Amino acid sequence: MIGGLVQFAYLIATALFVFALHWMNAPATARRAVYAGVAGMVLAIVATWAQPEVVHHLWIVVPLLAGFAVGVPLSRVPLTAVPQRTALSHAFGGLAAGLVGTAKYYLWFGEEAAQLTEFRTVAIIAEVLLGFLTFTGSLMAAGKLQEVKWIPQRPVTYPLQNVTNIALLLLALGLGTAVVLDPTAPWAPVAFALIIVLALTFGVLLIIPIGGADMPTVIAILNSYAGLAAVAMGFVLDNKLLITAGALDGSSGLILAVIMCRAMNRSFTNVLFGAFGQVQQAKMGGEDKVYKPETIEGGAQVLEQASLVVIVPGYGMAVAQAQHKVRELYDQLKKRGVTVKFAIHPVAGRMPGHMNVLLAEADIPYTDLVEMDEINPDMPQVDVALVVGANDVVNPAARTDKSSPIFGMPIIEADRARTVFAIKRSKNPGFAGIDNELYFSDRTWMLFGDAKHVIGELVKQLSGGSGTH
Ligand code: TAP
Repeated sequence: MIGGLVQFAYLIATALFVFALHWMNAPATARRAVYAGVAGMVLAIVATWAQPEVVHHLWIVVPLLAGFAVGVPLSRVPLTAVPQRTALSHAFGGLAAGLVGTAKYYLWFGEEAAQLTEFRTVAIIAEVLLGFLTFTGSLMAAGKLQEVKWIPQRPVTYPLQNVTNIALLLLALGLGTAVVLDPTAPWAPVAFALIIVLALTFGVLLIIPIGGADMPTVIAILNSYAGLAAVAMGFVLDNKLLITAGALDGSSGLILAVIMCRAMNRSFTNVLFGAFGQVQQAKMGGEDKVYKPETIEGGAQVLEQASLVVIVPGYGMAVAQAQHKVRELYDQLKKRGVTVKFAIHPVAGRMPGHMNVLLAEADIPYTDLVEMDEINPDMPQVDVALVVGANDVVNPAARTDKSSPIFGMPIIEADRARTVFAIKRSKNPGFAGIDNELYFSDRTWMLFGDAKHVIGELVKQLSGGSGTH
């Protein structure tokens, strides 16, 4: 009876996870998606706990409390730190899978050797390999994004790096095969321990050659590894929910990584092994080219006389936390009958949906957010493109310069607007480390300064010098 109920609860939980992913597709339903995901997870935990074979309740209560102690502070990180927070979650998921696989192997080795069937041992090896490499890989990714001092941001490369990594992986797989063929051999526990060490090392070495710029994509790939580790864990523990939830996790992580790669016109192998972000550093600066600075008064005047303004937000808007000031500017312009739209690039910022989340936080209507492909054909009719801390995603080199590392990446074609105002603090390049011709174009005027400050000043100017606060 209980067994049937548990399986039914698992089915409902799986359905809730599927709906959660589906509702994540639109900002209007995203909140519902979060509630559905949480409900599914609570149901899964309660159903698992209710099984009669669970007798040591303290062993569940203590980790639950530990989970809350870590999870609650993690939920309070600022939005700009969400990518590394996500990486930490994957690290925990990978560690959990790795530890469960390890515990099961040594337990069965010592007490119930018959449980170590070939199929189960394959699942355990997959779980431990994926789990532990996800653990250290995700910690490294989180460290790079958090700009931890002793973890270099730039790609670290050395001769024969890929060969070393592949040799390490092959060694782990070879040992894994040996353990699968004879899981109860006297040497098998030592080989198993070596597999753990190799997986932990591989996770670190896999991330070292990848630049901080590519971490969001790597995190999505690690997400799919964590999902696959959970699937393997499901086979080891004979738990169907772990298999379905892990498969959803694994496939959604993979799809997200593919979407990001496409939006940057890069391949998976280029992200993982291309050491992107390394050679372009020398080009930083662009001091020899001439920028045309504009004053706040001049900028405000042009903006209020426009009939169509397109705001192109980028990572700088997130850094400055300028979204609320952007909302005030939007209100001021709307008051004057100006049509204002937001052009959203799929990889603007540092995580998928970064701009959507910030603009939603400032209550900007979703209907005024326009996707890149939809806004580009209208760009020549746009009176003013206001670039707020965006750089790579508006860099025309992606269209024109075959030698550029971002060549082929689809961009928001702000350079085709009649006038461009670009807000940034300095002459430094964006994430890809390359100059941006847009800033030197005849039609572009620079509004140098912190985005929140500059937009605040524009708002003050438009509201007659008094500001809105
Ligand atoms: P970036 O190219 O990184 O440019 C951001 C610009 O914002 C910089 O030029 C910077 O110039 C400016 N900025 C920083 N802080 C500012 C502040 N407080 N006020 C005003 N400006 C400020 O950003 P983007 O155009 O959004 O492009 C995103 C990049 O990340 C792309 O290369 C993309 O491929 C990469 N990426 C994104 C993702 C996702 S999922 N979003 C995933 C992987 C990679 P100053 O320093 O001069 O101010």
